[in-house]
Amino acid sequence: MPIFAFKDTDALGLVSAVDTATATVRVENVDLLRKLQVNRLVTLQSSKPGQHLVGIVQKIIRNAIAGAEVADDESIEAEIRENNIVRISLIGTFIDRLGVQNDVFRRTLESVPEIDARCFSVEGETLTHFMRAVSQLSKDSGERLSLGHYTLDENAEAFLNANKFFQRHAVIVGSTGSGKSWTTALLLERISELKNACAILFDIHGEYHTLHGKGVRHFRIAGPTDLAGDTSPADDVMFFPYWLLGYEDLVSLFVDRTDQNAPNQTMLLGRAIMESKRDYLTQNTQHEILKAFTIDSPVPFELQAVLTKLNEINTEMVAGARGAKQGDFHGKLSRLIARLEAKRDDRRLGFLFDAPSECSNFSWLDEFALRLLAGTIDQDDGCGGVKVINFSEVPSDILPLVVGRLASLVFSVQQWTAKANRHPIALFCDEAHLYIPNRSDPGSVSSVALPYFERIAKEGRKYGVGLVVISQRPSEVSKTVLSQCNNFIALRLTNAEDQSVVQRLLPDSMGGFAGILPVLDTAEALVVGDASLLPSRIRIAEPNAKPDGGTVNFWDRWCEDTKVQAVAKAVECWRRQSMNT
Ligand SMILES: Nc1ncnc2c1ncn2[C@@H]1O[C@H](COP(=O)(O)OP(=O)(O)O)[C@@H](O)[C@H]1O
Ligand SMILES: [Mg+2]
Repeated sequence: MPIFAFKDTDALGLVSAVDTATATVRVENVDLLRKLQVNRLVTLQSSKPGQHLVGIVQKIIRNAIAGAEVADDESIEAEIRENNIVRISLIGTFIDRLGVQNDVFRRTLESVPEIDARCFSVEGETLTHFMRAVSQLSKDSGERLSLGHYTLDENAEAFLNANKFFQRHAVIVGSTGSGKSWTTALLLERISELKNACAILFDIHGEYHTLHGKGVRHFRIAGPTDLAGDTSPADDVMFFPYWLLGYEDLVSLFVDRTDQNAPNQTMLLGRAIMESKRDYLTQNTQHEILKAFTIDSPVPFELQAVLTKLNEINTEMVAGARGAKQGDFHGKLSRLIARLEAKRDDRRLGFLFDAPSECSNFSWLDEFALRLLAGTIDQDDGCGGVKVINFSEVPSDILPLVVGRLASLVFSVQQWTAKANRHPIALFCDEAHLYIPNRSDPGSVSSVALPYFERIAKEGRKYGVGLVVISQRPSEVSKTVLSQCNNFIALRLTNAEDQSVVQRLLPDSMGGFAGILPVLDTAEALVVGDASLLPSRIRIAEPNAKPDGGTVNFWDRWCEDTKVQAVAKAVECWRRQSMNT
């Protein structure tokens, strides 16, 4: 028994206009029209037997044509009829039987509807059967990432094609409190259950420490209290030594672009770094690398040597016609040196400038990269293919630089891995508007990080690096990066500007779908993209380990009678610049 077996008399109406991916249906029966809802499914008769075109109701227009002022003529009476229109986005073809398989749904339009083709609304049992068929179909065809259930049918499980989802990048957007973090946690949980999982989450606020299980490993970027003491830092504390930064990164950090001496400072800084890297390689007898390294190569160098060199130039005296005179750059580097020293001594930047001495060992980067890129079974202890990196103690002004450079490090290692040995990795970028910004001042710290992500967005697929961009402000996230993403999990979005960004990113025929963004329930998402067979509303399942979003119940807390004595402690933490006292 085919799923779509309608009687002609059940028809909603007839097709009166057709476009590439939309159709207009004229409805004669007003009762049927009243029952119809936007975003519900309909089918249209296809010119091919055994096939049905499936569409989504985009617009319902009830339009009375007052055709007659001269109402006493009988024939004109008939003209005063209603001209009711339903506009439909076509999304795919349903085939009753294909080869040995029953009930096949495809995202392609195998034919276009003909004028006067009948249109039927898909409801009740028919809808249930259709949704089951879609669910089963996606499951069978390898779309095995279970995300939740369809809003249209709460019993039909919604699966995504996880290969496509990560290959072609994804976006998770939604206003604050709409369920982004929980959705992220759910996805990571699903990944962590796999045998050889590999993903990194940039956890900006430290809200994912609750994720646990064999497949998850936690790291924390070192804060001021983790710095060089007598004890060596704990295993989960991560340093990111300054020499991992690129030349542009270091310039943006140390050189004030508005300084009139900035060009000279930039040039001399570069020269001093090159010299220091060369010395390092010579001392470590890395002759092969000496021949080919550049200023951006991940080669350790001594910051102190750079400072000494810059100080020399800044105070240099040369021989002149009438005795010694000041060198060309005498005094021109003072501000550069001051900035460099200030950064070096800033305890909040200790994870960059005050890393343990082993971070300068030549082989240190091997271990570091392995920590980031290893799949679950590559790790010695066989745990933790999903790495949650907590950035909550990294100062916000430098955050883009560190996250961006870490992402680019992952990308570079993938790029330099032989194709056959590449293990794919997904980068989950929570609060992406903070470090993948749409607009930024040229030369600023955040603009330096942007190209790293744009590169991954454009070329990641080739090298097995997938991006998942997560943000509450899609309008503030780089358009270049967003436009490379092919899958959308759009949760409730209330801001009009953000809605229009999402609308523009959706495929043309789906644009009308964006209208429901502001009325979605918490944890309900519009899921569109090449990873989902049916573009639809999905109620996202709960993760086992809930993120620690830290939502405070004001009223409840104000009703409690326990004394709050946290202020003195907070002041101490503030002074120490760390939550770990
Ligand atoms: N999948 C879900 N199922 C049930 N409740 C959810 C789900 N996702 C989110 N919520 C509820 O919504 C709240 C906010 O979710 P969260 O993911 O922290 O939002 P966001 O990260 O978008 O600000 C959660 O504390 C929880 O109560
Ligand atoms: Mg969140």
